Amino acid sequence: MHPTSTKPLNFAVACSENRVIGRGGKLPWHIPEDLAHFHRVTAGQTVVLGRICYETWPRVREDGRVPVVITRNRTLARPGVHIAGTVDEAVAIAQTLPGEIIICGGQRIYEELLPRADRIYLTLVHAEVPGDTWFPEWRHLTWRESDRRESCDANFRYTFSTLDRVR
Ligand SMILES: NC(=O)c1ccc[n+]([C@@H]2O[C@H](COP(=O)([O-])OP(=O)(O)OC[C@H]3O[C@@H](n4cnc5c(N)ncnc54)[C@H](OP(=O)(O)O)[C@@H]3O)[C@@H](O)[C@H]2O)c1
Repeated sequence: MHPTSTKPLNFAVACSENRVIGRGGKLPWHIPEDLAHFHRVTAGQTVVLGRICYETWPRVREDGRVPVVITRNRTLARPGVHIAGTVDEAVAIAQTLPGEIIICGGQRIYEELLPRADRIYLTLVHAEVPGDTWFPEWRHLTWRESDRRESCDANFRYTFSTLDRVR
């Protein structure tokens, strides 16, 4: 990569048809296949995430992930855990770190960065579910679906898609 070029911003998210991503600080579903997919997509990469997501993912540093946590609380800094006060600071730090940059939410971080998203690793859960945190509307932007796989479990049907932004 050219030293002055910047890495793409790739998102990973699982959301319902009504764009819900969370409820009560947790995922609104338990879909083991999607958890495995999320862990596979983010392994070895730099993951940008909000403080709540960080606190609810104690094993974030396993499998070579490098977290950049967005928070006002600088005391969360640990060896191997980068702290940023804003999304812009987080992206600037992430640009210096190894692997892909994967934006892992939550809501405000997705909202602020969606206009700059280059790719979404999307799990669309084909259900309308109640929740308190949302992914911003992405369907009005233009995407090329470079990968797609349908699956289901006993409770949900879902589609794994890789969406590449067309500008
Ligand atoms: N389905 C999915 O793919 C998915 C993905 C991610 C999250 N979730 C769900 O979403 C919920 C958590 O997300 P959330 O949106 O509530 O919280 P979050 O983004 O993980 O954390 C919120 C905190 O992060 C910091 N923060 C976030 N955006 C910021 C910004 N733009 N500038 C500065 N600081 C910022 C603040 O930390 P301080 O208060 O420390 O300053 C804020 O209180 C959970 O239910 C989780 O399960 C689901």
